[in-house]
Amino acid sequence: MRSFRILVVTAMVLAVSSATASDYRSVPGSLTEASATCIECHEDAMPGLVKEWRYSRHYGANVGCYECHGAEPGDTDAFEHNGYNIAIIVSPKDCANCHKGENEEFQASHHADAGKILGSLDNVLGEVIEGPFAAVNGCKQCHGSIVKVLDDGQLDAATWPNTGMGRLNPDGSKGSCAACHSRHSFDVALARQPENCGKCHLGPDHPQKEIYEESKHGIAYYANIDRMNLESSSWLVGVDYSAAPTCATCHMSATRDLPITHDIGNRISWTLRPPISEKIDAKAIKTGKTVKSWQARRADMQNVCSACHTSSFVENFYTQYDGAVNLYNDKFGKPATALYNKVRGSGLISSDINFDDELEWIYFYLWHHEGRRARMGAAMFAPDYTQWHGFFEVAERFYMEFLPEIKEIIAHAKAEGGEKLAKAEEIEEMIAEILDAPEHRWFTGNEPADVKAARKKAQQEFKERYSN
Ligand code: HEC
Ligand code: HEC
Ligand code: HEC
Ligand code: HEC
Ligand code: HEC
Ligand code: HEC
Ligand code: HEC
Ligand code: HEC
Repeated sequence: MRSFRILVVTAMVLAVSSATASDYRSVPGSLTEASATCIECHEDAMPGLVKEWRYSRHYGANVGCYECHGAEPGDTDAFEHNGYNIAIIVSPKDCANCHKGENEEFQASHHADAGKILGSLDNVLGEVIEGPFAAVNGCKQCHGSIVKVLDDGQLDAATWPNTGMGRLNPDGSKGSCAACHSRHSFDVALARQPENCGKCHLGPDHPQKEIYEESKHGIAYYANIDRMNLESSSWLVGVDYSAAPTCATCHMSATRDLPITHDIGNRISWTLRPPISEKIDAKAIKTGKTVKSWQARRADMQNVCSACHTSSFVENFYTQYDGAVNLYNDKFGKPATALYNKVRGSGLISSDINFDDELEWIYFYLWHHEGRRARMGAAMFAPDYTQWHGFFEVAERFYMEFLPEIKEIIAHAKAEGGEKLAKAEEIEEMIAEILDAPEHRWFTGNEPADVKAARKKAQQEFKERYSN
């Protein structure tokens, strides 16, 4: 079934000459002598690896071992191997010899920056509070290591094997295409499946994989995998398949109007990761940079939906989604963050060490786990994540742990008196102000009588209409 692809390549070599996609001018016309030599030995030494390569489109296109692993003698990670200079690492720069456009898009994406977590709060958690090998086997397998080359060209075991998304490579390039394109089949069918993204996009702090599985889209996908046409060269939504969208469909793949993009932020309007969500272009605007606007990104995502849904259906969905993000921000994210910063700035808890105070863990759960789950569940159609793993837990954390913990800090400070007394009173005032907002008055029992009455009336009307 795979031999027809040679014809496809010939056609592409003729057709593709721009830098926006792959550029196959450096593809050899037949298998090179170097690659044939590699294969002779490796077929015996590691037959599984060679068999996978033979299954790949690269095999059909004469892209052999040496075309990817060949290195210049001066490369930092080059070493002599049976008469050839080779490197183990095949970086995005190497792939870009033939796939220039894909690499340019990837380099412009947040994926390429996934290795830059060193300065983050999470990094203190991984490297210091848990310990270095928690980061080696955990964080860095998703985000990427800084690959270190030893004197003999071998790779430092603390840094490789690793195909983390934003890996920092010996040649100075960022990223790992193999994070999604598993070697040595480099099979697009594998890359298009939700499981591919699910290596990293899962768990308590970004459960996109679980969200997808419980959404109507995931349900339709798993029931219809055989109709998804995953192996097809052309994979236009609504044309080459229609049963369901996968992660790739919505975030990367082509529609009738849009090309494939390797910048996975290209169709997203909000960022749902920080304590308070903002539009995805907000940071760039603040620093005077021009980037694709959030409106244009949203329009592209809606273009994907339009293969299967009407525009009013899609717009209504976005109203529901924006509503959930704004609710999280205004009711919980903003007040919790303001209070948290106030307490840390007050000196009533340590402000130079992270995670040594109970409040820091509580706040981290609130935005980094539960608050993200609520927002991400709403973004991708998973009611259980939005509600029970999301808003319910956010609310419980806010009213039953976060506020009580601060009240305890206040009480301690008041008991100590002196300078701390004034600080404690300031924080107390801030809490009172926050809780006086209409959305929090239920908690203090200060809801205006007319609001209570209106709710009671609505309940009664509902009962009368639907109880029989
Ligand atoms: C004479 C046989 C032979 C030839 C020719 C050969 N290899 Fe190897 N290669 C091996 C063996 C054996 C290993 C080590 C296997 C092991 O340690 O498990 C190896 C290891 C490797 C490694 C991993 C190195 C490491 O330290 O982990 C790479 C990459 C590699 N070969 C690529 C190539 C490429 C590319 C070519 C052709 C330019 C090639 N090999 C030619 C036999 C050969
Ligand atoms: C399309 C590019 C490409 C081709 C063609 C290719 N490789 Fe690789 N190979 C990779 C990538 C990517 C990795 C992962 C290394 C990394 O972490 O960057 C890899 C890893 C390896 C490794 C070490 C990892 C392991 O699992 O032990 C060996 C050995 C290897 N390749 C040998 C070969 C041989 C032999 C051939 C030819 C039959 C070949 N490769 C063809 C891209 C390629
Ligand atoms: C020497 C040129 C060359 C290099 C280097 C190269 N490729 Fe390719 N690649 C090709 C060609 C040619 C095709 C098209 C084959 C076809 O359509 O049949 C291709 C196809 C692909 C495909 C589509 C496979 C499919 O099933 O449709 C992927 C994915 C891919 N390459 C990824 C990579 C990655 C990742 C690297 C680096 C690790 C890489 N390539 C390195 C030439 C190259
Ligand atoms: C299972 C894979 C995985 C592990 C393990 C992991 N992360 Fe992440 N991390 C992700 C993904 C996926 C995202 C993006 C989530 C999103 O966009 O919804 C992310 C997001 C982040 C962000 C936010 C980046 C930004 O631009 O806002 C930071 C910082 C971070 N991780 C650091 C860490 C640290 C440090 C560790 C170890 C303590 C770690 N991560 C462990 C997959 C992982
Ligand atoms: C986040 C996962 C991911 C990463 C990382 C990634 N790709 Fe892809 N790539 C995909 C998916 C999914 C497709 C299939 C898109 C489609 O056909 O709908 C694809 C398709 C391709 C294709 C085939 C394009 C075509 O027009 O048919 C090439 C070539 C390719 N990728 C190269 C690369 C290179 C080179 C890198 C690294 C710079 C890379 N990819 C990194 C997910 C990824
Ligand atoms: C090897 C781990 C890994 C895999 C596999 C992976 N991602 Fe990611 N992804 C990350 C990390 C880490 C981040 C956060 C990067 C950052 O902001 O520093 C991220 C961020 C994102 C974002 C947010 C982009 C933005 O601009 O805010 C989207 C969307 C995304 N990934 C989609 C996907 C899709 C779709 C796939 C599969 C086709 C996928 N990812 C596969 C690790 C991964
Ligand atoms: C039906 C389309 C669709 C599918 C399928 C889908 N997503 Fe999304 N995704 C969205 C939409 C819509 C948003 C919110 C976009 C916005 O903010 O405008 C989003 C947001 C995201 C974000 C941004 C979170 C952040 O940190 O800001 C990530 C990461 C992500 N999706 C990953 C995935 C992964 C991984 C899968 C598969 C397991 C997936 N998506 C499946 C449509 C989809
Ligand atoms: C490939 C086709 C396809 C694409 C593309 C697609 N969907 Fe869907 N969508 C479906 C299917 C199929 C269902 C399940 C319908 C059912 O179960 O009756 C569904 C269900 C939904 C539902 C749940 C509706 C309900 O009645 O419970 C929402 C909301 C939704 N899609 C929104 C979107 C949005 C927003 C996008 C774009 C970001 C999108 N979809 C992209 C096929 C698609």
